[in-house]
Amino acid sequence: MKLFADTAIISEIEEVSTWGIISGVTTNPSLIAKSGISLTDAIQKIVNLIDGPISAEVQEGNATDMVEEAKIYAKMHKNIVIKIPMTLEGVKAVKQLSTFGIKTNVTLVFSTSQALMAATAGATYVSPFMGRIDDLTGRDDAGFELVKAVKDMFKTYGFKTQIIAASIRHNNHVDQAMKAGADIATIPFKVLNDMVKHELTDRGLKIFREASQNK
Ligand code: G3P
Repeated sequence: MKLFADTAIISEIEEVSTWGIISGVTTNPSLIAKSGISLTDAIQKIVNLIDGPISAEVQEGNATDMVEEAKIYAKMHKNIVIKIPMTLEGVKAVKQLSTFGIKTNVTLVFSTSQALMAATAGATYVSPFMGRIDDLTGRDDAGFELVKAVKDMFKTYGFKTQIIAASIRHNNHVDQAMKAGADIATIPFKVLNDMVKHELTDRGLKIFREASQNK
């Protein structure tokens, strides 16, 4: 499972780019607002930091407007993937963009039927939201089941659309995304930092440190 950074904050992307293990970035309007810069400024900076798919989200609207906005971002760099919301107009826009060879990431996916429509339209990626479906259901495995069901459905019907597990809130979501067979997990900066930690690693390091001091 590939690791993407789910952030538009440039200092965070600069930091994770030094790790050498982050192969893409996803942004959305909330993340852009938090970053304090415009989407086009963010795109220009991010493409120089991470050499991989960078999702830039269009404003929700009718298919024609979304396609026109998508063309602007797609022209900016070869790695740009157009993030399109899961609506009927979004499905139409994905279909048109796929005929132009523009890559798409259909976002706000919460069911297999939505994923089927997006994949049939030619989406490069779909983004099922793990955290938000857990919130809605009050369960801690609804996100896992969603990603697994989409994975099984894509396998059964031979879709090449890749799954980006999104709305990841903690390490357990990352584990669940792996178990469900997501192709990619897009992960907030804090969770990326948490993933490296384990209390037994810390304890082991302490034991080694004490042993080398007592030499
Ligand atoms: O990738 C989508 C993600 O940014 C949404 O996360 O935590 O707002 O549900 P969240």
